[in-house]
Amino acid sequence: MAETIYRKDYQAPSHWVDTVRLEFDLDPESTSVTSTLSVRPNLDLDTPQFDWVLNGESLTLVSVALNGTPLPETAYTLTDETLTLHNIVEPCEVTIVNRFSPQANTALQGIYVSGENLMSQCESQGFRRITYYPDRPDVLARFKVVIRAEKRRYPVLLSNGNPSDARDLDDGRHEVVWTDPFPKPSYLFALVAGNLVCQRELFELKDGRNATLEVWVEPRDLDKTAHTMESLKKSIRWDEERFGLELDLDGFRIVATQDFNFGAMENKGLNIFNARYALANPKVATDQDYANIESVVGHEYFHNWTGNRITLRDWFQLTLKEGLTVFRDQEFSSDMLGEESARAVERIKNVIALRQSQFREDASPMAHPIRPESYQKIDNFYTATVYEKGAEVIRLLQTLLGWETFRKGFDDYIQTNDGNAVTCEAFLEAMERASGRDLKQFKRWYSQAGTPRVTVMTDFDPKTGNYTLQVSQSTPATPGQSVKKPFLIPFPVSFMSETGDPLPVRLVGETTTSTDKRLFELTEERQTFVFTGFDHEPVLSLNHGFAAPIQLEIALNDTEGGMTAEQKTDKHRALQARFERDAFVRWDALNQLMLQSLRELIIHDIPGHHAEPISRTLMDAFDGVINDATISPAYKALLMTLPSETLIGDSLTLIDPQAVAHARQRVRTELGSRYSTSLNELVEANLTRGDYTPDAESAGRRSLVRVGLDYLMAATDKHGQLLACELAENATNLTDRLTGLTMVNQTRLQRKNDLLLKSLREWMSEPLLLNKWLAIIAGGPSMVGEDPVVDRVRELVNCAFVSLKNPNNVYALVLTFFMNNPAEFHRLDGQGYALWLELLEKTDKLNPHVAARIARTLENWRRYTPALADQMYMVLNDVLTRRDEFSPGVIEIVDKALNNPL
Ligand code: BES
Ligand code: ZN
Repeated sequence: MAETIYRKDYQAPSHWVDTVRLEFDLDPESTSVTSTLSVRPNLDLDTPQFDWVLNGESLTLVSVALNGTPLPETAYTLTDETLTLHNIVEPCEVTIVNRFSPQANTALQGIYVSGENLMSQCESQGFRRITYYPDRPDVLARFKVVIRAEKRRYPVLLSNGNPSDARDLDDGRHEVVWTDPFPKPSYLFALVAGNLVCQRELFELKDGRNATLEVWVEPRDLDKTAHTMESLKKSIRWDEERFGLELDLDGFRIVATQDFNFGAMENKGLNIFNARYALANPKVATDQDYANIESVVGHEYFHNWTGNRITLRDWFQLTLKEGLTVFRDQEFSSDMLGEESARAVERIKNVIALRQSQFREDASPMAHPIRPESYQKIDNFYTATVYEKGAEVIRLLQTLLGWETFRKGFDDYIQTNDGNAVTCEAFLEAMERASGRDLKQFKRWYSQAGTPRVTVMTDFDPKTGNYTLQVSQSTPATPGQSVKKPFLIPFPVSFMSETGDPLPVRLVGETTTSTDKRLFELTEERQTFVFTGFDHEPVLSLNHGFAAPIQLEIALNDTEGGMTAEQKTDKHRALQARFERDAFVRWDALNQLMLQSLRELIIHDIPGHHAEPISRTLMDAFDGVINDATISPAYKALLMTLPSETLIGDSLTLIDPQAVAHARQRVRTELGSRYSTSLNELVEANLTRGDYTPDAESAGRRSLVRVGLDYLMAATDKHGQLLACELAENATNLTDRLTGLTMVNQTRLQRKNDLLLKSLREWMSEPLLLNKWLAIIAGGPSMVGEDPVVDRVRELVNCAFVSLKNPNNVYALVLTFFMNNPAEFHRLDGQGYALWLELLEKTDKLNPHVAARIARTLENWRRYTPALADQMYMVLNDVLTRRDEFSPGVIEIVDKALNNPL
């Protein structure tokens, strides 16, 4: 079993490495590495250590030499995971020769084979699978890399930094030398070898230098690089203009690969991308793909400063680079949209993702603060909390300090820490210097896990015109943290009348007349705000733009005209859905109305009892949105979308996935049939005609078509079905075609199988398309008279064109099923769990990282109804009792799922 590593145990390295020279003799069967390190002991330690421990995994050691003299075996100690050199007491040169097999590397960490090419992935601890090295982020060295390989097979040889030499050898091989001028930790090392081609452009940087930009792909993909190149240029320009940060190299390269565990990786000057975030043209990419590529290219490029130039002292600080860089890529994507309403749409999508993944994680046995205190496998902590909540915490600082001060603090952070490996404190200290504020309380966001719950009780006094908010905050217990202290929470407030007129936000004793929202701060467990100046009870709006990552509950006083508090809440939400000026608050109001309806339906779901599925209030609000001509299609699509099955489930005390799916289906059907005429008109009016471009406006129209059709499918509307078939067969763009197929897949139309088979045949030879097809099947419903989805997933896993060695296949087919299809996965007959166990075992033998992601799909087992929870417990327990047969990463997850009660 893996040992637990604690943040408090950090110790500075015993030795520093100043320069590294790596010589590779590449061969897929057996690659040899000669590593020459200039080393010196760290004499700043209280007690300097002279044993130098290097990491190394799945390596064969050939020789070790000190200052050119081979070392006898007594001078070092070798284990499965370390090479310890004894008595390194003064600066010296260490030369290590070792071998490894790229071919045998199915974990895709270190150097591995992808198609005909060799690729590397080092973050977080893959470099130790290449050579023996102090594989930790606080050892920064200058790298020179010499690569030799057969020229015919591997004509292109790439590594970090700048090319400094190239020559042919006389045995059919060639040699290329790369020099990276910037000291870096080993996790940013990269190497690529293969038969690749590139799109290349010269790009003028702000200071007048020209940088060479390249996007490297397999020859068949050269027609899919343009959007990636455009995105890279936009990213470089944006970082210059928005953050004053320039590219520090003469060249910047992106390489696409079909075999990659993650989305993409920010290796210095040589980013490696999963093909799905690097390759696009109208034949293979949807609107969503175009948008994702722009944001992922931005993300990895922005790491060049936030992550690479300023790097991490240890892996506990991961959010220092990831949270900050997600914040930056979110701002980049928003800025590229420009217009305020499009930015709001982007923000709402991010909030939905946060609630669906991070809030869920916060309520699970894996709950952890954005800076965890311990881990077994760091790979398991690249989480929604570290990334998405981490980005929210950076956004909180921007909200609290204002953009100008935030930017001043950011500049200070960059200048003070450039070239260093630092902790999250470095960022907060820079913000303290810039603002003159003490951020001691704010820092709790880094150490306390869980989603804070903010409860607001209101009271209106018609005699005085006073409106009182009693605000309390509390954060649920999480593993290892039973009691929490209050957070510093920005708290925006605004009011409007029942006819939608904005009203002043004025505390008792003040004279302001501003009707803009005002920003207050919560710092205590309980606080009271008394506003005044109202003739009638106002409608209250809070947490504009989702200012803070909290769960907000508003309990309105129920004194008004005999209404219950619930009725009044409904009424206020309906008014907000109609009039609210803040796009997030407006969307959230409608979303809460929908969620409330769905919850009531589930709670009162008595067989044979056919209550009205939805309230008049919700219907009117929905009707109002469909027919509102003033809102953008993209925003309308969001307003009309019902909460996902996952989100509905998470809002219940006990999750019953079938009941959730049933209720959602009933509401869809009800709204779909009641408004079929308007929905058909809406769909018709927004269909793409003419040439395809992935711009936000037309993408918004396509998302609206999708939402409209989704309702019409539930209502088995004939027009809708016809259009769905038409799109599945003849759409001129991939987005609409996939919409059509997704819709057809949830019908019992005769043509369904033909349409599905036809696209499979057409898409089979293009991995990007095949994966989309697999995801449609895995995410679809089971129809009466057909095989259940779980059987089809199993069948597809065993097909010759699907491989568990390929992470994208697993993500598209297996993880889509386990994560996005709750009612089909959590079947009462346990078939879903049987498949889970089977695939966990198979995948873990090939790729432990991907297996750990599968493992996480059952971590919330305690939240489900007993009939399901018992069965989940059984499979989880089965894994734990056979712990030696599974990888440590999987065991960490399963062990926490079973033994970390909340
Ligand atoms: N540094 C990560 C890549 C990474 C992830 C390495 C997990 C090791 C483990 C990279 O910057 C990243 O965050 N990639 C994301 C996509 C990004 C747009 C959020 C990913 O791969 O999911
Ligand atoms: Zn990142």
